[in-house]
Amino acid sequence: MKIIAIANQKGGVGKTTTAVNLGAALAEKEQRILLIDLDPQANATSSLGMQEFEGETLYEPLLGQTAMAAKILPTRLEQLFLIPADLDLAGAEVEIARMPDHLLRLAQTLQPLRADSAFDFVLLDCPPSLGILMSNALAAADEILTPIQCEYFALEGLVKIVRVVEQVRDSGANPNVQIGGILMTMFDSRTNLSSQVVAEVRQHFGDKVYTTVIPRTVRLSEAPSFGKTILEYDKSGAGARAYRALAEEFIRRQAPVPASAESIS
Ligand SMILES: Nc1ncnc2c1ncn2[C@@H]1O[C@H](COP(=O)(O)OP(=O)(O)OP(=O)(O)O)[C@@H](O)[C@H]1O
Ligand SMILES: [Mg+2]
Repeated sequence: MKIIAIANQKGGVGKTTTAVNLGAALAEKEQRILLIDLDPQANATSSLGMQEFEGETLYEPLLGQTAMAAKILPTRLEQLFLIPADLDLAGAEVEIARMPDHLLRLAQTLQPLRADSAFDFVLLDCPPSLGILMSNALAAADEILTPIQCEYFALEGLVKIVRVVEQVRDSGANPNVQIGGILMTMFDSRTNLSSQVVAEVRQHFGDKVYTTVIPRTVRLSEAPSFGKTILEYDKSGAGARAYRALAEEFIRRQAPVPASAESIS
């Protein structure tokens, strides 16, 4: 089991769209996925049409009041499970801040998931602010997946998140955490700008950047208003194809290097 934080302090870069649709595409490939909505805006929750479960959030588990397992809900997709969010989760920031070990609350809350093998991947949809919830996500994650939008200043935003991840690592809260992948989103093939930005980011971050690029499509932006993943809303369109390709590449990248390959040099 691996915990992946989908994080970028910049807003509107495609974190939630990626958390929901990568989660769905991985579930379609027989991976058991737990998606945790860590954003009080609850966009991942409503993208799955599950906003009616009020109070079913990570709020109580984070404060040690309820077991995390009690908050895991099934979704329409067989292998995809969700812990929803709602606005009240914002209050957890304040309360967690007063607790000892406040950076490690989420890591501790998710600890039982590491002991059993119910899930292959836990995806954390992070809020855009650099608050307690996002810091907790970075401290709990094995790896960070950072979506960035193909636009001017993409690199500047990336430099910031890299620095934040370094701070979490240096603080000792999560000594091994790193950005495992960078995903270019909202690629617009009609402009040169998108291609230039992708080239520039690849030049700086090399293999960290996913080969798969997510195109800008109206369908991807419409799907959440119907409470549907792109795999349900437009199952053979460009958006669904991109997120399926991303899921394949994601799984490939998780595969450990075979021992024989390691011992060659
Ligand atoms: N590939 C895409 N093509 C078209 N629209 C997209 C695409 N990806 C995301 N969007 C739209 O862009 C907006 C921002 O995307 P999303 O909510 O995924 O970003 P976010 O990083 O989670 O934002 P926040 O920081 O507010 O949580 C949404 O309206 C979403 O539907
Ligand atoms: Mg979001």
